[in-house]
Amino acid sequence: LIPSRTYGIISDLTVSKLYSQKIIQNLQEKGISAFSFTFPPGEINKNLETFSSLQEQISGKLSRSDCIIAIGGGVTGDLAGFVASTYMRGISFIQIPTSLLAMVDSSVGGKLGVNTHIGKNFVGVFNHPEIVLIDPNVLKTLSWEDFHAGMGEIIKTAFLSGDGFCTLLEQNKRAFFAKKAEICAEIIHKTVEYKIKIVEQDEYDHAIRQILNLGHTFAHALEILTDYKTISHGMAVSLGLSFVIQLSEQLGLLSADSSLRAKNLLNLYEMPNHLSQLQIHLPPEKFLQQMKYDKKNRSSKIIIVLLEDLGKPVIHDNITEEQILEALAHVL
Ligand SMILES: NC(=O)c1ccc[n+]([C@@H]2O[C@H](COP(=O)([O-])OP(=O)(O)OC[C@H]3O[C@@H](n4cnc5c(N)ncnc54)[C@H](O)[C@@H]3O)[C@@H](O)[C@H]2O)c1
Ligand SMILES: [Zn+2]
Repeated sequence: LIPSRTYGIISDLTVSKLYSQKIIQNLQEKGISAFSFTFPPGEINKNLETFSSLQEQISGKLSRSDCIIAIGGGVTGDLAGFVASTYMRGISFIQIPTSLLAMVDSSVGGKLGVNTHIGKNFVGVFNHPEIVLIDPNVLKTLSWEDFHAGMGEIIKTAFLSGDGFCTLLEQNKRAFFAKKAEICAEIIHKTVEYKIKIVEQDEYDHAIRQILNLGHTFAHALEILTDYKTISHGMAVSLGLSFVIQLSEQLGLLSADSSLRAKNLLNLYEMPNHLSQLQIHLPPEKFLQQMKYDKKNRSSKIIIVLLEDLGKPVIHDNITEEQILEALAHVL
């Protein structure tokens, strides 16, 4: 940290009480000036009102050469990064992700923004933090639901990356669920490393970055059809991965052995592979309709990332509706 700068620490109230207050105290003891800015926790507050309130809170306290530090989950990171990127036309920011999802996904890749009544993440920018700092020890205070919510992206990345990452997960479930710092660090590092490798090739999401969407065409449709209320993103991604495995096997792309290994990994991590496990029932036709509206789709073609093997994703845009309905029947 640069002593001549003032640091504006943005957190939701939960994370502020747990960590940010202590960090600010430490900084002040070292002679670094730091202020706390907070907002109430929850996805519902990732909106333009909170954005404006934070802009007002920091105005007059931070100048163009100062820096914002986002400490918290994905909501805080997306919101605080967007505030930093627009305050006085943009000041520096640092991400300190504290939820598993923020550590492995949202703090890296440069997508920032808020939800509006038109849609989720509808307003935002691409911009990167100066530093992303991850301390797996803070996972100890994270609830089981929020820990589990990050698992979807980790297993997705293992499927994209291949045998080595799948084996690491197969062999370390106990230590990972016990939140042992060393194994958490290794798994988080592998997930982030993979994301960086892909984002560096296609920062603005026009081509290869779409493979990070594995399982997400289905997951987004499910989240919209359930009003983002009943199902966590991790659960939705898990079901989306089951759908992709099913469709890939059905099309003759993925071998029965690899398909079984993938399904077993989801089971091992207590992730759902059938919607009925969550006591939810939805008609496949409605699902298909929703998948067609996905923002990644050009024209009316459905773009889906499939697997030719673990570690071998392929982007497909010529899957028929019948093939999709057949795969949906195995997951819904
Ligand atoms: N920018 C991107 O590329 C990207 C990618 C994926 C998801 N996202 C966004 O991320 C958001 C979801 O992130 P999230 O699941 O982290 O939500 P979140 O920020 O709401 O955090 C979940 C909950 O955990 C609490 N929390 C966080 N860290 C904690 C800790 N160490 N101990 C105790 N409690 C803690 C928070 O207070 C909150 O209540 C969504 O808005 C989503 O759109 C963005
Ligand atoms: Zn996701």
